[in-house]
Amino acid sequence: MGRISVHQLKQWKAEGKRFAMITAYDYPSARLVEQAGIPIILVGDSVGSVVLGYESTVPVTMEDILYHTRAVVRATSKAIILADMPFMSYQANADEAVRNAGRLLQEGGATAVKLEGGSHVAPLVRRMVDCGIPVMGHLGLTPQSVNQFGGHKVQGKTPAAAAKLLQDARALEEAGAFAVVLETIPAPLARMVTERITIPTIGIGAGPDCDAQVQVFHDMLGIYDDRRTLKHAKRYAVLGETIREAVRAYIGEVEGGEFPTREHSFEMDEATLSELTPA
Ligand code: KIV
Repeated sequence: MGRISVHQLKQWKAEGKRFAMITAYDYPSARLVEQAGIPIILVGDSVGSVVLGYESTVPVTMEDILYHTRAVVRATSKAIILADMPFMSYQANADEAVRNAGRLLQEGGATAVKLEGGSHVAPLVRRMVDCGIPVMGHLGLTPQSVNQFGGHKVQGKTPAAAAKLLQDARALEEAGAFAVVLETIPAPLARMVTERITIPTIGIGAGPDCDAQVQVFHDMLGIYDDRRTLKHAKRYAVLGETIREAVRAYIGEVEGGEFPTREHSFEMDEATLSELTPA
């Protein structure tokens, strides 16, 4: 059996079946989340913040996303692998955008791409879909525009902004997007969008009524304890502390001469050893 198809997600929405998406950026994390049953993995440009140490997603390049997508694809066989289109890989001109989206499938092995924006990117989405590239949209707090928004603020709060978001979601659906991420918008607006379009909405900070949810791997697993407080992230584990504890134990055992023991060492037979031992 091959990978889950993007059409399956629309079917799940029609059946009222909710699903979870998560980010992963490397072989071990992708392997673990697929083994846990995740049907769709996002190689997000959040890689910039949680793996590469940048302040935002803006510095992430096509080469970064290609590199991480390949590792995630190698680790998995069933999940849909969604590659994020990084900042400036699709904004400047349509031909370049389609070529870059194609590279993520052809060179990266991704199943589909995700890009940020509403009505203004709808013609691009249509071109990509016509070329055989499945596209997911992304509305609300679109992190590549953080400098424009002036911070991580809840979007769609005024009647005009809410109406625009609804219109953008419809434009993406009409352009052929197979799903849309709704990030950091009021829950009642996310519910309204979810009810009014037939493609799945995937929420992050968009309340409980979206068709699906997405979380960032490092946030939900508690890898960092000093990352910007994220109201929408739920910690299901505190792996940062678990890792520090394990490494402290290792340091202590090395310094105390408790590691390695014979169990972790290799023996040599006495005869060989005696040949080497000076008489
Ligand atoms: O890059 C990312 O992780 C994302 C999610 C927050 C949706 O775009």
